[in-house]
Amino acid sequence: MKLVFATGNSHKLQEAQEILGPGFTLVSPASLGLTEEIPETGTTLEANSLEKADYIYKHLGTDCFADDSGLEVDYLGGGPGVYTARYADGEPQYKDNLEKLLHVLKDVPWEKRTARFRAVVTLIIGNEVKQFEGVLEGRIGTERKGNGGFGYDPIFIPNEIPDQVGNDDACSVMPGLTGHLVPNTQGIANAELPEGGKNAISHRGQCMRAMAEYLKSRK
Ligand code: IMP
Repeated sequence: MKLVFATGNSHKLQEAQEILGPGFTLVSPASLGLTEEIPETGTTLEANSLEKADYIYKHLGTDCFADDSGLEVDYLGGGPGVYTARYADGEPQYKDNLEKLLHVLKDVPWEKRTARFRAVVTLIIGNEVKQFEGVLEGRIGTERKGNGGFGYDPIFIPNEIPDQVGNDDACSVMPGLTGHLVPNTQGIANAELPEGGKNAISHRGQCMRAMAEYLKSRK
């Protein structure tokens, strides 16, 4: 099944392809000639994700999906939330956002550093619109760790991790792995997990797997 993923973020495209597996061919809007920035003017993840999917459907007329995600930090009253990508001033890079968050939380004790990634995926197929939500609970670490993932992954410490985490092969050959989560007692950051391990627990992974199940069920 061919689907357009309304994103210009190559990390997300690669991650989604990995999660959905070979039964799905994901293409970017740019590869179909749509290179302008997709508008994102909503104040909720649901609204933004719908706006992006709708934009693609109207401009390309193809089955598609879009995601919107954010980091909710309890100490910041759930912020930066929908504004996560634009947390630092100007036109921030990932590292600017991450450094700002570390700075803002520098005196906040471990027990108050609770946070979650939330994602909402909107699928438009035929004239059907469906949304899927995923949440990954964890804490904001006090320093950067690991080289994997993107965005805030070096400072996000998930509460639970797949028990095969010490075994890269097991995770990368089981991208759909969902069971056997164990407490993250060593404080491993998202960016230290093998790709399959992050996908197995991530907010977007949860959405994508739910979407894949839904697509299979309507065949
Ligand atoms: P958007 O969904 O593209 O609007 O992005 C929201 C922002 O949340 C991104 O720019 C990242 O900084 C952050 N983010 C979303 N998902 C992840 C993730 O899986 N790991 C790390 N950061 C993420």
